[in-house]
Amino acid sequence: MEQVRVGIIGVGGMAEHHMKTLRQVERAQITAVCDINRERARHIAATYETTAFESAEELLDSGAVDAVYVCTPPFARNGIEAGVARRGIHLLSEKPVGLNMDEVRATAAAIKQAGIINSSGYCLRYLDTVQKAKAYLVDKQIGMVLGYRIGGLPGAEWWRKMELSGGQLVEMSTHQVDQIRYVAGEFASIHAIHEQRNIRNQYPEADVYDVGVLSFTLQSGAAGNFCNTSLSRHFGRADVEVFGHDFYLALNGNGTTLRIVDDEQDITVKSKYDFYLEQSRAFVEAVRTGNQQLILCDYNEAVSTLEVTLAANEAAKTGKTVFLSSASAVQPTRSEPDA
Ligand SMILES: NC(=O)c1ccc[n+]([C@@H]2O[C@H](COP(=O)([O-])OP(=O)(O)OC[C@H]3O[C@@H](n4cnc5c(N)ncnc54)[C@H](O)[C@@H]3O)[C@@H](O)[C@H]2O)c1
Repeated sequence: MEQVRVGIIGVGGMAEHHMKTLRQVERAQITAVCDINRERARHIAATYETTAFESAEELLDSGAVDAVYVCTPPFARNGIEAGVARRGIHLLSEKPVGLNMDEVRATAAAIKQAGIINSSGYCLRYLDTVQKAKAYLVDKQIGMVLGYRIGGLPGAEWWRKMELSGGQLVEMSTHQVDQIRYVAGEFASIHAIHEQRNIRNQYPEADVYDVGVLSFTLQSGAAGNFCNTSLSRHFGRADVEVFGHDFYLALNGNGTTLRIVDDEQDITVKSKYDFYLEQSRAFVEAVRTGNQQLILCDYNEAVSTLEVTLAANEAAKTGKTVFLSSASAVQPTRSEPDA
């Protein structure tokens, strides 16, 4: 395949960013868009000189695309990805890939059966700094992990409802949870506290928490803590820190800066990569060549990250520690039995 014809389903803020990025990918051509907001789809189609379709089904049946980006909000995947897979169209599914483990596991099975190239929106994996961190930690004994996602409240109305967004950890801090899984290993157990401290003053109808703290263990035996809040208007951070007896490693600013301190070095490396561009380049090249190995976060991996964040929601709701039975996307999560 010389050129990859790309369609975009759900053309909101993230999709438009992908479209600007895809313009820089030589082998990609945006051939189709759709949105339930048809006026928005027509506007985006005119701006980016492409074709607007009336629905996802019409877009997928048009014969106009080899691959699609699904960029609808988490509550609005409605089997869209499974429909993409059934038609043998290649898929990049934005994070989080859904809000329900049964649904995303069924989609994962459809993707496997179809054998399509599949990717998810965990773009930070494509940073050279994150790759360096992963390589550095491969033979290290990790003692403790600290993660943070601190910032203000996103504007989208759907974000403020748990049943629509899943809350901050599922929708936003999922990037840092995925980063922990990627560089430090799989989660084993999670205890969580979620509280509403300010959000209802601004949005009385909101039911998402605006402060959240997790304590967790990894399968390696390491222990960790993760703090996230969306009430902080004056200070932001998106960091993962990893501690060992003989090293300290930090991925700061979503992983764009890496610091490693050990007996031989104290180095700080800043990435020059545009992670969205690297992600799209890898996806388009994978589709063009049929090489799934170019993808650093496939759909199954995204399912495993979703499993961790939904387990944290369950832990916060029940007040119990949730044990993750395995790293596998097809294994169920279970709560601690009453003892
Ligand atoms: N990877 C990242 O760094 C990153 C950053 C921001 C957002 N995202 C993810 O991208 C997704 C979209 O986020 P956003 O900020 O662009 O949201 P948004 O609200 O700006 O856009 C969503 C769009 O989807 C449309 N839509 C809703 N249901 C639809 C359906 N059934 N069919 C077609 N279109 C539909 C809406 O009309 C809207 O235009 C979310 O999953 C979000 O988590 C990822």
